[in-house]
Amino acid sequence: MSGNFKNLIIVEHPLLDDKLTRLRDVHTPPSEFRRLLKEIAALMTYEICRDFSTMEKKVQTPLEKTTGRILKREITVVPVLRAGLGMIDGVLSIIPEARVGMLGLYRDETTLQPVDYYVNLPAGLAEMEVVLVDPMLATGGSASAAATTLKKYGAQKLTMMALIAAPEGVRLMEEKHPDVTVYVAGLDRQLNEKGYILPGLGDAGDRCFGT
Ligand code: PRP
Ligand code: URA
Repeated sequence: MSGNFKNLIIVEHPLLDDKLTRLRDVHTPPSEFRRLLKEIAALMTYEICRDFSTMEKKVQTPLEKTTGRILKREITVVPVLRAGLGMIDGVLSIIPEARVGMLGLYRDETTLQPVDYYVNLPAGLAEMEVVLVDPMLATGGSASAAATTLKKYGAQKLTMMALIAAPEGVRLMEEKHPDVTVYVAGLDRQLNEKGYILPGLGDAGDRCFGT
């Protein structure tokens, strides 16, 4: 676990550092932003799956029978719209068989409270590894609301993949969802008065989709 947070894992790798720094750069255009986000998500997926349970499976190689291990549970990935969409292809490049759910949430610009507008999740979440995906964990309001919704629909084994977190957001997740481990590529300093992460990368949805 990272820093003073019991629920946080900062994934450290030179490739992630390099890509995250380029992503933060205000001069990085949406096309490159999307590519970097996808690549970071792929690299982080490898780490997030580290603690997933496996089970034995007998397999016939071309030469003999042996026993290997396969993932015990199906995986469902749930991006938070919009910015989470930018990470989904990266996750699926590593786990192509994963199911994909969708949660539509946006942060009211004045109150900073999450407003949910769409839920579409596969049945059977209770038996699956569920990975919530959203690049930004700022106040934590959106992630916390998303985790509450996923649990309401049955999710029991829930992990969150973010890109950048503010301490405020990690703290809220620790308070409201202590069972959810949050993986990030970077833990930033603080939020500004408008709830933006500092140093951050700006508005992830806008930078991803050029709005
Ligand atoms: C961003 C981001 C998170 C949320 C984080 O989405 O993708 O969902 O803000 O902020 P919080 O931790 O303070 O809740 P946004 O609300 O901008 O929606 P959008 O991606 O549709 O633009
Ligand atoms: N949402 C974003 O997209 N960026 C921030 O810095 C905070 C919330």
